[in-house]
Amino acid sequence: MTVTVRSFAKINLGLCIGALRADGFHELHTVYQTIGLHDIVRVTIGRGSGIEIRCNDPSVPQNESNTCYHMAERALGALKVKAQVLIEIEKQLPVQGGLGGASGNAVAALIALERGLKKQIPGSEKLRIASETGSDLPLFLVGGTVLGVGRGEQVYPLPNLPPTACVVALPPIGVSTPKAFADWDLMVSGQRDAAGSGSASGAPKLTVRSHSDRMLMFSRRVSAWLSGLPEGESKLGRPKSGVPARGRGRAESPLLDLVRTGIENDFEQVVFPQYPELREVKCLLERGGAVYASLSGSGAAIYGLFASRTAAEKGAAKLEKSGVPFQITTTLTRQQYWSKIFDC
Ligand code: C5P
Repeated sequence: MTVTVRSFAKINLGLCIGALRADGFHELHTVYQTIGLHDIVRVTIGRGSGIEIRCNDPSVPQNESNTCYHMAERALGALKVKAQVLIEIEKQLPVQGGLGGASGNAVAALIALERGLKKQIPGSEKLRIASETGSDLPLFLVGGTVLGVGRGEQVYPLPNLPPTACVVALPPIGVSTPKAFADWDLMVSGQRDAAGSGSASGAPKLTVRSHSDRMLMFSRRVSAWLSGLPEGESKLGRPKSGVPARGRGRAESPLLDLVRTGIENDFEQVVFPQYPELREVKCLLERGGAVYASLSGSGAAIYGLFASRTAAEKGAAKLEKSGVPFQITTTLTRQQYWSKIFDC
């Protein structure tokens, strides 16, 4: 019995890094958005026991360290089932790209396994297993636009937003997420030291916002955006009645309104100085007409949101000229995400 599923990618519409916790993770507030780029995950279930991973990309681990292995092992345990499981990953998404590829693969394997075995793990248990496997796995059990808090693993569905054309630039650079977090800590402690020494020398003291202040600001921006959404907009994936926007541009696109609230990706502050070519890619997207462009996660993928598919194609031409690999896609509503998963 073989089940084939699409394993979609995510982008981060905004990301705020908080304090380093005692467990080694950072407090995080983020808004995830699933997009149409995807890998293919094929799960074959047979008699016997054992989990085998195969992947067309040799840089993907094909042993117990693969997130799919961990997930399948936990899922079989939760279902109290003994089976031989072969998980084949057809990789199209970049490894270490900030698009949640490995996390999405693990959730896709879980979904395929459930379907193949015709058994379901209760939703709350699935979320728990997913969060134990990685911080950005649970979002793939929700899909669409998702608020992530805690270390990113506590997920809340946000209203659906109209599908938006998206160009994802895929520079061939692998950014280590743990290193990016460590760099952030260094940068923040450096700023604090500078602010402190400023006052000691009699110079005006710099204001460095505390982690909690910054995270509070992020939450307030998302809440203000949510409270401004026209009622009923989300269910249809488009404004119900062209209800006038609160302030500028609400009717244009609620997604653009959200990213324009200032929920920027903190990782840009540490990743761009190390890889100036990534900042250049963001500028190319902006110059190419993107209404918003940002690093996704800790990168190196950079996305641009566009007013239409035609505008996205035009914008992508700038990347093509500069030799930057890219793909054109669209954001996925929750309904699209779930209906397309099995549609392959
Ligand atoms: O949860 P995940 O396995 O994706 O995390 C990979 C690494 O990224 C963690 O070991 C940790 O170093 C870092 N991380 C973090 N804070 C988070 C998420 C991840 O420091 N909120």
